[in-house]
Amino acid sequence: MKNLYFLGLLLLCGGLFSCSSAIKDQANFDVIPLPQEIQTTAVGDFVLNNNTVIVYPAGDDTMKRNAEFLAGYIKEQTGKELEVTDKSVDRNAIILSTGLDNKNKEAYHLEVEKHLIRVQGASAAGVFYGIQTLRKSMAEAGHADVAFPAVEINDYPRFSYRGVHLDVSRHFFPADSIKRFIDMLALHNINRFHWHLTDDQGWRIEIKKRPELTTIGSKRAETVAGRNSGEYDHVPYGGFYTQDEAREIVKYAQDHFITIIPEIDLPGHMQAALAAYPYLGCTGGPYEVWKQWGVSDDVLCAGNDETLKFIEDVLGEIVEIFPSEYIHVGGDECPKVRWQKCPKCQARIKALGIKADDKHTAEQKLQAYIIDYAEKFLKGKGRKMIGWEEILEGGLSPTATVMSWRGKEGGIEAAKMGNDAIMTPASHLYFDYYQTMDTEKEPLAIGGYVSVERVYSYEPIDPSLTADEATHIIGVQANLWTEYVPTFSQLEYMELPRLAALSEVQWTMPDKKNYDNFLQRLPQLISIYDREGYNYAKHVFNVKAEYITDYVNNSIKVVLSAIGNSPIYYTLDGSEPTEKSQLYGDTLSLKESCVLKAITIRNNKKSDVLTEKIDFNKATAKPLTLLQPINEKYKFNGEYTLVDGLSGTPNYRTGRWIAFYKNDMEAVVDLKQETSIHKAWVRTYVEIGEEILDVRSISVLASDDGKIYKELKTVDFPPVTSKDKNGIYTHEVEFNSINARYVKVIAKPEYKIPAWHWGSGRPAFIFVDEIGIE
Ligand code: ACM
Ligand code: ZN
Repeated sequence: MKNLYFLGLLLLCGGLFSCSSAIKDQANFDVIPLPQEIQTTAVGDFVLNNNTVIVYPAGDDTMKRNAEFLAGYIKEQTGKELEVTDKSVDRNAIILSTGLDNKNKEAYHLEVEKHLIRVQGASAAGVFYGIQTLRKSMAEAGHADVAFPAVEINDYPRFSYRGVHLDVSRHFFPADSIKRFIDMLALHNINRFHWHLTDDQGWRIEIKKRPELTTIGSKRAETVAGRNSGEYDHVPYGGFYTQDEAREIVKYAQDHFITIIPEIDLPGHMQAALAAYPYLGCTGGPYEVWKQWGVSDDVLCAGNDETLKFIEDVLGEIVEIFPSEYIHVGGDECPKVRWQKCPKCQARIKALGIKADDKHTAEQKLQAYIIDYAEKFLKGKGRKMIGWEEILEGGLSPTATVMSWRGKEGGIEAAKMGNDAIMTPASHLYFDYYQTMDTEKEPLAIGGYVSVERVYSYEPIDPSLTADEATHIIGVQANLWTEYVPTFSQLEYMELPRLAALSEVQWTMPDKKNYDNFLQRLPQLISIYDREGYNYAKHVFNVKAEYITDYVNNSIKVVLSAIGNSPIYYTLDGSEPTEKSQLYGDTLSLKESCVLKAITIRNNKKSDVLTEKIDFNKATAKPLTLLQPINEKYKFNGEYTLVDGLSGTPNYRTGRWIAFYKNDMEAVVDLKQETSIHKAWVRTYVEIGEEILDVRSISVLASDDGKIYKELKTVDFPPVTSKDKNGIYTHEVEFNSINARYVKVIAKPEYKIPAWHWGSGRPAFIFVDEIGIE
């Protein structure tokens, strides 16, 4: 539209340049993250043109840099090279200043009036966020003058800790890529970069006292293909940052008001360090920098005084490179199998008088001793310690900050104890997870399912916390582990636009958040992604389908939507939709099997095709009652998932599968009238490593009145063996044909996982996506 308008005016003016001053591009404040308060005022637009100047306070180098950032963004966006000055100007200027009276030091006030734009921050950081808002407001401007609507914005972040984590061990990204990454964070008002510098698969930071950490520990001989397939690529892999490079990156981040929090992951995830210094391991090695993914059993020996010296040597240099108040010492996923057998570790347990209790093993307490040692060392250097939530095990120092990643529980426990916590639960904020259910077209990822919408829906303050406890939730962070992220372009794809959703969780007050509204604003931010050449995921621009089981009318209702209400075209016969296909208007009501395909067309571009196979059988869209509960954690849309005609993919977190745990699935389907039946089936998903096992039996019962049931058939299945495969299984139960109205299907899980499995003795989950009756 904008371009046509421009062309039209040019034609009207006969292409004369004198006319171009009349043409204006429009800025607007539909930005991400959404400011807390925007008021339009009636004082007239401000027009940015070639003569606009950017003013900063004389003698303030930080503010001068802010002014230069703004000039740079404007040049990138509009081609205009604006003058940056410390002279006083009172017309046609953007005036940057500090001194805003606000307890929140990242707050800013932005005012647009006819002759001036003023950005005042409670600190230079606040001004920086005001500049980001201005930059995003003109994201769709071209090279014409830009009209800014008169507004007054009062804005401040909800959380002081707004983090993103990046693992550079599994895959390494050179210094220039890290700077590009920092630019991406700044665009989203993120102020902490948690840099995961070491792990089993590579040590990535130079430590001068320990040169072998990089000469040996930064290189692995080769890398496993896929998800620990057993095949290797035969290509040596390595890389590390020199201290000079790291310092330069620290400075680059500081200029963007981002603090780098380095992580040295200890005492586990240390196999690369052990490859360099084998005497630091319980067995003495030899060790190699790990070539596969997972969690190595070989960890720092907690009984060896050399380990304590190693920790001091490494952290001693880390605090010299990184001025951050916080240093992260890991603490996650430290297997204790070596410590249990190691004479040195056992001697340390004895010497310290450590005793197991009903909550913690002696080895967990030994880990607490190591973490405590690291914390005391850091405290001596005037720093604070962060660790993953496992630092709660075995006793936690009152001054440690906890990163809650397995769920919300670690953060809640920490906050209730009065420790600060940062929420980074895998369920919502692990960006190494798939962002769509349709994983076939995606680059290989670790698994899981974290869509943009799921990120957006995350609320970090659990209602179980009191107001006082909630103050200990200092922030929110997304994590990117890079086992399956070999290139920076793929890294961008995994981050964007999920970072946009994250930024609103971190910045915007919950009562201002609204996902549909966020989606309406997203294209404007995406135009900056396009300008920067970021590789972002486009799933949110595809047609979105919501399926509702209408058990009253026995149909599956389908509601289709697309961002900006762009037109949706669909077919139901499996053919490829085009703009000549049926235009979607109102909710579809499906009563028989079909293949739904739908596209939307936005800015003359076709989206990817949404494809959904909907299978009807006699149970589909019929009333269903569960006599035993769904597991709360995997309840999603509840019992009607079982008769919605939709199939799950081999991913149990998408919402297509519901779980039963410690009880059976016991479902009654009301066929609504006497119906001839001869077969029932249950579709299950098995992921043996996750303790999701197949059913042990399926029983089918029938009734005329829903009260007295007759058993038609029970089929038993053998227990899982180590040779069984993960995947989707359809279990059919056939019986003599009978007329019945009510059909009960009971599927029994494995109540005790067999002895060969590491979950031995525990109950297993069953995951079911559909039950069918014919
Ligand atoms: C983690 O994901 N191991 C913190
Ligand atoms: Zn040991």
